[in-house]
Amino acid sequence: LFARPWVFIRGVPAMKFLPPEGPPEVAFAGRSNVGKSSLINALVGQKGLARTSNTPGRTQELNYFVPEGYSGDAGDLPPMALVDMPGYGFAKAPKTQVDAWTKLVFEYLRGRVTLKRVYLLIDARHGVKKIDEEVMDLLDTAAVSYQVVLTKADKIKPPAVMRLVEETREKMAKHPAAFPEIVATSSEKGAGMDELRAAIVRAVSD
Ligand code: GTP
Ligand code: MG
Repeated sequence: LFARPWVFIRGVPAMKFLPPEGPPEVAFAGRSNVGKSSLINALVGQKGLARTSNTPGRTQELNYFVPEGYSGDAGDLPPMALVDMPGYGFAKAPKTQVDAWTKLVFEYLRGRVTLKRVYLLIDARHGVKKIDEEVMDLLDTAAVSYQVVLTKADKIKPPAVMRLVEETREKMAKHPAAFPEIVATSSEKGAGMDELRAAIVRAVSD
């Protein structure tokens, strides 16, 4: 799956534009600027696939990526899709816009039947915030399996990363739909990518 190139197939600005439920979907959620789009690029090894930016609020739709070479017609559907999402919480955009993105993300996470796994990204410099806890509660209630990924691990010292991994692991114990293991990653340096790719392949094949 990760050996071949991936392509962008669709941007979804509102729930009614979602593609018909088909292949298993794996989605990347987190606060604005946490590194969702960068993580997708690092996973597939294609720098410019998902658009990234220093400015929070870059990704504005649910963006669907699939392995290349499938027409998408019935009988020739891709084996899975990766879904990049707008960030929640804050962004360099008007509040009404940010509220609309947050609503779209929450609705998708709660209501998408083919959503197999969510990767919930947490900036290793900031840790779990209140809005992340809200998303965890929503996923627990909807019984959607999720795993916490610490991002930008290259920006802090390894012992601090290890401390945060431990702290976060303890927090996850009270969340029934969460995986206990926390993956520390750096999209810049490639850390954690093999582990995540393997976990994604397992998630879509159960
Ligand atoms: P929105 O779409 O705006 O919600 O942001 P996002 O979560 O998709 O973040 P994005 O991937 O656009 O990255 C935001 C910024 O963080 C960019 O400037 C990236 O280069 C930087 N960044 C992302 N991942 C890493 C990382 O692992 N290490 C470092 N040092 N920088 C990173
Ligand atoms: Mg993005």
